[in-house]
Amino acid sequence: MRAPVLIANWKMNKTVEEAVRYARDLKGLLEQAGAPGPRVVLSVPFTALRPVAEVIAGGAIGLCAQNVHWEDRGPYTGEVSPLQAKDAGCGLTLIGHSERRQHFAEGNELVNRKLAAALRHGLTPVVCIGESRLERESQKTLRVLEEQLAKGLAGIKTEDIMIAYEPVWAIGTGLTVSPEQAREAHRFIRQKAGALLGGSASSALRVLYGGSVTPANAASLLAEPEVDGLLIGGASLKLEDFSEIIRQAAGSSS
Ligand code: PGA
Repeated sequence: MRAPVLIANWKMNKTVEEAVRYARDLKGLLEQAGAPGPRVVLSVPFTALRPVAEVIAGGAIGLCAQNVHWEDRGPYTGEVSPLQAKDAGCGLTLIGHSERRQHFAEGNELVNRKLAAALRHGLTPVVCIGESRLERESQKTLRVLEEQLAKGLAGIKTEDIMIAYEPVWAIGTGLTVSPEQAREAHRFIRQKAGALLGGSASSALRVLYGGSVTPANAASLLAEPEVDGLLIGGASLKLEDFSEIIRQAAGSSS
């Protein structure tokens, strides 16, 4: 069985000092735990990337940007390029998080350009997709996922990619998918994304779930064979909660 992937998405939270303290403590906890557990990744604000990279250097924790631009350099005030994210120590980047789609008008075409740019620099993209409450209520979930995949992954052939299924209605709301909803969406994503990405991508593809994951529901989500890991926002801000989720994931993969 593949080890689950757990990504802490801090969003726009934590000063450099807070980030470094958390990363140092997490590294210590993982070293204590010993045996290879889940793959643990921190997705931190740009300001904390380099300092956190220095703390986790040589260990097993991965570092992820929360967003990247589609160009390597240029007149794009306020943006960060995949080249710069890589240079700061990232091995992965989120792409198309629903908060980017909602607040910064990122559509599927932009996601596609960013995805290609991330791959060009050897960053593993974690492409976020998911339906709104209205779309789910009007039975459009699979249609929305299909369109986000078809446009977002257009022309991309790679196995080095993860997809995060993050229903917009579940993010930061305390609502989560039922096991049946997770199963249906994840299976659909694996099949559609696998066909688009080509080769043996379908079996290698990791499909993560995100949206109000907590220590109380992580184990049952991870128990779903189609759920290869979790993207955790609010509950990853406290090391106590995130490390509890790591412990549960270690149990589920052993
Ligand atoms: P949440 O956020 O866990 O706070 O719902 C998840 C995400 O946005 O990635």
